[in-house]
Amino acid sequence: MFGRKNGEIVRLLITGGAGFIGTNFVRYVLSTDPQVRVTVLDAFTYAALGDNLAYLRERGELAWGSNAADAGARLEVVRGSITDPSLVDQLVAEHDVVVHLAAESHNDNSLANPRAFVDTNLVGTFHILQSVLKHNRRLHHVSTDEVYGDLPLDGKEKFTEESAYNPSSPYSATKAGSDLLVQAWIRSFGVRATISSCSNNYGPFQHVEKFIPRQITNLIDGVRPRLYGTGANVRDWIHVLDHCSALWLILQQGVIGRTYLVGADAERSNLQMVGRILAEFGRGPDDYDLVADRAGHDLRYAIDASRIKAELGWRPEFTDLGAGVAQTVAWYRSNEQWWRPAKNETEQAYLRAGH
Ligand code: NAD
Ligand code: DAU
Repeated sequence: MFGRKNGEIVRLLITGGAGFIGTNFVRYVLSTDPQVRVTVLDAFTYAALGDNLAYLRERGELAWGSNAADAGARLEVVRGSITDPSLVDQLVAEHDVVVHLAAESHNDNSLANPRAFVDTNLVGTFHILQSVLKHNRRLHHVSTDEVYGDLPLDGKEKFTEESAYNPSSPYSATKAGSDLLVQAWIRSFGVRATISSCSNNYGPFQHVEKFIPRQITNLIDGVRPRLYGTGANVRDWIHVLDHCSALWLILQQGVIGRTYLVGADAERSNLQMVGRILAEFGRGPDDYDLVADRAGHDLRYAIDASRIKAELGWRPEFTDLGAGVAQTVAWYRSNEQWWRPAKNETEQAYLRAGH
């Protein structure tokens, strides 16, 4: 794996490893391969809610299975920004492989404050590219299906790796720009990089600003879910651990220069998802409020994941979305101390924005 000899240690640098997907990916890696040492570089913005890795470390839950015992010793966390070129350069030089997840990730925030998205998503990615070029390191860049814009609500078409870039929001525009930078560094400078674009993730450790955790934690507080517009917009949901297994496979077997789309064929309207969550709380399917729509709100996302399935043999394991939602509800019920500190402030900001 990673082209290493038997028993050789691989040093993995994971940017944004304290966020939602990053935390799950760190756990996945530490659980899967005892020969990997992980360094997380994270700025600990508001999005690193609850200091996830410290939360897990305290509970002895940084990894599961037979590799759990020494997981803490195989993880180092560095507080710093990918917009700091000397820190990025020093860390890239000390590692074999870089997985780049750090980003400003929330569409609503990008409408209110786009500057941070340009700084982190574009300039930060530029610094990482310059360093992996200088030190000849393998890079995997984590991107999103949103770079392709949206699809008609009533159509059957899905995004493929050949779909044209057509981003809608400042968030997706900066993610699209970061993909194009990676593609340029691959083509012009021979950087050894791959890109993946995934659909909407759900699961443990997702910030309460995002759709599913917001509705779950509202219901825990006895507040009705809040749907943007008519609730008809469609997202293609994937469990975060299925995203992690795809990332891991791309690191092992992905072809340099290639982009892989990752999705689990689970399209649902927001209305359907809220109905599912309401059912977990024993509430009726109409027990929600419609609120102001998001500006430029993408209608529908849908991923055709044929390439990663055919070429790398990837398969999602969490194929029962209803069961995945039930587990996620149970996780938020059991981990209130993790999400509670961010809830009030997040809701106040939403109410100010009319959502
Ligand atoms: P998140 O907002 O939960 O986490 C982002 C992390 O990046 C946080 O820990 C934050 O502190 C860190 N960060 C922000 N700015 C930084 C900076 N300048 N320097 C270092 N660290 C910084 O996001 P997420 O949902 O975990 O998404 C991770 C990546 O996956 C992003 O690149 C996102 O575009 C992509 N992605 C997310 C989804 C999804 O559904 N959540 C789907 C596809 C792709
Ligand atoms: O598709 C991948 C993308 O998925 C990632 O790149 C982003 O980082 C991630 O945030 C997510 O983007 P979305 O904008 O799709 O996710 P969000 O959770 O913000 O919203 C999901 C849908 O739910 C969207 O149609 C807006 C709607 N919504 C959202 C909130 C917070 C509501 O109806 N009510 C809400 O309260």
